[in-house]
Amino acid sequence: MAKLGVNIDHVATVRQARRTVEPDPVWAAALAELGGADLITVHLREDRRHIQDRDLRVLRQTVQVPLNLEMAAEEEITRIALDVLPHQVTLVPEKREEVTTEGGLDIVGNRQRVKRCTEQLLAAGIEVSMFIDPDERQITASKELGAQGVELHTGRYADAESQVARQQEFDQLRQAGEFAIQSGLKLHMGHGLTYRNVVPIAQIPHVDELNIGHSIVARALMVGFEAAVREMKRLISL
Ligand code: PXP
Repeated sequence: MAKLGVNIDHVATVRQARRTVEPDPVWAAALAELGGADLITVHLREDRRHIQDRDLRVLRQTVQVPLNLEMAAEEEITRIALDVLPHQVTLVPEKREEVTTEGGLDIVGNRQRVKRCTEQLLAAGIEVSMFIDPDERQITASKELGAQGVELHTGRYADAESQVARQQEFDQLRQAGEFAIQSGLKLHMGHGLTYRNVVPIAQIPHVDELNIGHSIVARALMVGFEAAVREMKRLISL
């Protein structure tokens, strides 16, 4: 059964809208754990749009399940990761204007930069996963650079406007997933997953981890964080 990584960035987004102290993502992490989260995921962006350095440090001390840090393969954030030592880092692309992470990290086109960062993280005992499009070249490059896992970008599947298009995106994810497993990588998936579209993805063979943020936080506003996580956990266990 896939593990559920609950991304709590958007709790911090609400707090940062007023630059105040609430809601605190640290509280959300505790409630997510009570709801059955297997990991807590945060993205410390270079522009500090939502999660702040303090959040990451306090979460590292308080979260009982593994902490997954999403980050760009950049020097400043790498230094922070090496200091805080999350259990896992997921390398993601970052552009300042984007609303959310658009497209996977181009490992093939950024080999040197990703390699430098990955080597330092691995040497510190941090597991490294790479957030990439479901593309065999990117999977092979991730493996060559030493990643233990890949997170396949499910955004195109989530955004597909017709049943046919969705099925095509799904097939691509399934095939790329199989290739990742054959390559000896752990298989993670995420982005745009919701209560309505998660079940087929969770049932892809050997999916080890799903990272889900916006949909859970949106539901948590209505029913509470623990209940929202518990319901997502139930769906991925079907
Ligand atoms: N996985 C990665 C690598 C991401 O960057 C994000 C968005 O921060 C997610 C998963 C979660 O996406 P969503 O908020 O659409 O569930």
